[in-house]
Amino acid sequence: MGLLSKHSPRTPSYLYPSVVALSLFCITALLLYKVDDVVSRTGTIVGHNLEPTPWHVFPHKPFDDENRHQRAYKIIQCSYLTCRYAAGYGDERWSYGARAEECPEFFGAIRRDLAPWAQSRISKAHVAAAQRYAAFRVVIVEGKAFVDWYYACVQSRAMFTLWGLLQLLRRYPGMVPDVDLMFDCMDKPTVNRTEHEAMPLPIFRYCTTKEHFDIPFPDWSFWGWPEINIRSWKEEFPDIKKGSQVVSWKKKFPRAYWKGNPDVASPIRSELMNCNHSRKWGAQIMRQDWGEAARSGFKQSKLSDQCNYRYKIYAEGYAWSVSLKYILSCGSVTLIISPQYEDFFSRGLIPNQNFWLVDPLNLCPSIKYAVDWGNEHPQEAEGIGKRGQDFMESLNMDRIYEYMFHLISEYSKLLDFKPTPPESALEVCVESVLCYADEKQRTFLDRSTAYPSENPPCNFKPA
Ligand SMILES: *[C@@H]1O[C@H](CO)[C@@H](O)[C@H](O)[C@H]1NC(C)=O
Ligand SMILES: *[C@@H]1O[C@H](CO)[C@@H](O)[C@H](O)[C@H]1NC(C)=O
Repeated sequence: MGLLSKHSPRTPSYLYPSVVALSLFCITALLLYKVDDVVSRTGTIVGHNLEPTPWHVFPHKPFDDENRHQRAYKIIQCSYLTCRYAAGYGDERWSYGARAEECPEFFGAIRRDLAPWAQSRISKAHVAAAQRYAAFRVVIVEGKAFVDWYYACVQSRAMFTLWGLLQLLRRYPGMVPDVDLMFDCMDKPTVNRTEHEAMPLPIFRYCTTKEHFDIPFPDWSFWGWPEINIRSWKEEFPDIKKGSQVVSWKKKFPRAYWKGNPDVASPIRSELMNCNHSRKWGAQIMRQDWGEAARSGFKQSKLSDQCNYRYKIYAEGYAWSVSLKYILSCGSVTLIISPQYEDFFSRGLIPNQNFWLVDPLNLCPSIKYAVDWGNEHPQEAEGIGKRGQDFMESLNMDRIYEYMFHLISEYSKLLDFKPTPPESALEVCVESVLCYADEKQRTFLDRSTAYPSENPPCNFKPA
């Protein structure tokens, strides 16, 4: 009997709890492993799991949430859960009472930027090939934005750029068409017209040149640049304008002023250092030390305090520079050293009308010549400065959303396929951006929120 019971096939009952416990343990382990796997493959708007762009390397970003579990929780929360429960912008198309005004002349540049695809149109193959140059891909479908990440962007550029796009969706509910586009957030244009003549690749970035196919798009700083304390354009412009009126034209220093960072691999900025002589060249050239400025709380580098000179110099940096808009806003004569790069609005500038062109091959004497001319013709000089400021005033956020709207709409008309988000793309919404933002970023983002427009976008004349 004893022997028989020993060979009984019945499993002893005490084994059940252990099996259940073991299976639970395995399932949990598997789940955790899966979650870990998902988290480690998820690129985010602040750059988790992303390498810096290889074509413009910058230091890896430090993350505050270094604790692995906290980070995993944040990624799951912000990237996977937040947009699911967000309110959205509504897809109800607004009906506008007012008639649309004509768009400013410089919007015509949209047609020139997109001309390379007017015949061929833009296929899936074009977009796929442009990925080589992109930091991320944005797909808008029915008013929702989906982003596929390839590389991290320096500082908070990606965050403020996508924020701008989301504000556009909010500004024109139900009107922004479906679109699939590649975006690079670094400075230099990359799609050389000669090299890509056979198949132009469409890539959006902040600037372009006559020799590139890159499509310029408003840069992040219109919504804010927290790292150097630059607030949204909506806040900066009125402040700079007010600052510019503190001193009358007569009382402004009759000199040309430049303040910036000369150490950005820009030959023209290095050369500008040689013109630093008030009497000899009529110029004062100052070094901006952003590290020092940050330590002192940016007190000495307030943009609105830099309008006390009759002439202000604009020198390109590593590529175009976001400073152009702030310099033009001063109402001083902007001395632009013959630029190689153009951004979306600089195509609206007209020499001797709203700025003064300086010859880079004869730099210091050209600056001196402009300063002497202006001091002998104060009324004309003041007029040029004023028209530069007026131009920037007309470029308010409403205009910028209109530009984005028309650029995206025209681009969308060229697509020969129906955009669908790629499998690896994740939805990005206002709430998910805020979810990743730190406290300072959140303050800057909040203050650049857009509201639905009461007027239709300006009328973009057919070609
Ligand atoms: C574009 O490519 C051509 C041919 O490789 C080269 O000669 C030219 O310098 C390039 N242009 C720019 C702006 O890099
Ligand atoms: C230019 O000259 C001024 C006055 O002489 C000086 O304070 C300033 O540091 C100089 N700028 C540079 C970049 O050396």
